Amino acid sequence: MTLTQYQQEMLDGRYGKGKALAMRVQKTIGEGFRAQRMVPITRAHVALSAQEADTWFARKLRDAGAQCAVPPTVNPGYCLKYFQQMGRVDEKSSALMRETHQVYQDLGAILTYSCTPYLFGNIPRYGETVSFSETSVTVYANSVLGARTNRESSASALCAAITGFVPEYGMLLDENRRGTVLVQVDTPLQGEFDFALLGMNAKRIGPGVPVFAGIKPSDVTTEALIALGAQLNVAGMVDLFHMVGVTPDAPNLERAFGGRQPERTVTITREDLEAQRALLMPQKYEQADFVILGCPHYTYDQICRAARLLKQAPAVVPVWILTSAAVVDLARSTGMAGQLGESGATLVPDTCVDEAPCWGHLAGQRGFTDSPKCAYYMRAFGVELDVTTCENCLALAAKGGKS
Ligand code: F3S
Repeated sequence: MTLTQYQQEMLDGRYGKGKALAMRVQKTIGEGFRAQRMVPITRAHVALSAQEADTWFARKLRDAGAQCAVPPTVNPGYCLKYFQQMGRVDEKSSALMRETHQVYQDLGAILTYSCTPYLFGNIPRYGETVSFSETSVTVYANSVLGARTNRESSASALCAAITGFVPEYGMLLDENRRGTVLVQVDTPLQGEFDFALLGMNAKRIGPGVPVFAGIKPSDVTTEALIALGAQLNVAGMVDLFHMVGVTPDAPNLERAFGGRQPERTVTITREDLEAQRALLMPQKYEQADFVILGCPHYTYDQICRAARLLKQAPAVVPVWILTSAAVVDLARSTGMAGQLGESGATLVPDTCVDEAPCWGHLAGQRGFTDSPKCAYYMRAFGVELDVTTCENCLALAAKGGKS
């Protein structure tokens, strides 16, 4: 890989040991993918996790004097204030969250703690080259916004933020961005839950860049696109999808496939969606002890929907709704947060479902979520959830479960 003089100087340590280490990581990745050169980025998003390995790596860069050339936004960890008040997190875990905050602040990150940066605070334009990590963020940026990013890890995105460059390969190159698999959707889709079910068919769709056809553009919401991308990357590995008449590189089939023929065609029927739905209720709970929503972080519209539903039938078991601090602020200013509180739901900012110290106490209780991704992550620390629509989750929360 050819480096510019400035990049070579960075690698040689002229701008400090921290930048040199970050450049070494970037160069090694680039060589692994046979990149020819490094290109500048305009934005970064780091999937910070407040887990030890991630903080260790960030600390190593900070201690070596690194500073971000492109200040990245960051993924959620957890809201220390809320979970300390609830008495849920022990001192060891709180210390790690505090240290993570400090290290990333020292590096110059923008501490947004949200997994929907593309809605608030870090929104690339079409064609921008960025370095984004996080399962649902990368695919949204590539597919819906038409930005260009590889599926970075938190470490590689942080290195890119520090150097300001990424190796040019994969999704940064035109030839890898055209569609390769035609996915004919032969059933109407209603609400984001159907789109999550569609995403759960990632294994049937197989490798490549899927082009979804047959979906009515008027049925597609921002939330639907978020749910689809998130599930495509939990059930499979998708950097980019196109949707005819919806996403920017797919005004029609010909453009989506770059004038070539699809390598294969997959048809998704209502039966395929229902087969996935059947897998989402492994516990077959009939009552709820709690509900957790917001993986990925809920949008303001989703919060308003939850508030409407809970106004009709308030929750009698805990309902946690995870979202960004920006959306919490908006919900406070519009009175929506207060309305939710009166109906038994709590808006939790800055927090990920994949935080065992916060949620581990729910193991053994009957929980519901509307996110297959949430169920997948929480299972790792013993919290078993059934997954159904937001409407069903909140109806169950209103019915209650404790005997
Ligand atoms: Fe967001 Fe954590 Fe889910 S980062 S998408 S809440 S696993």
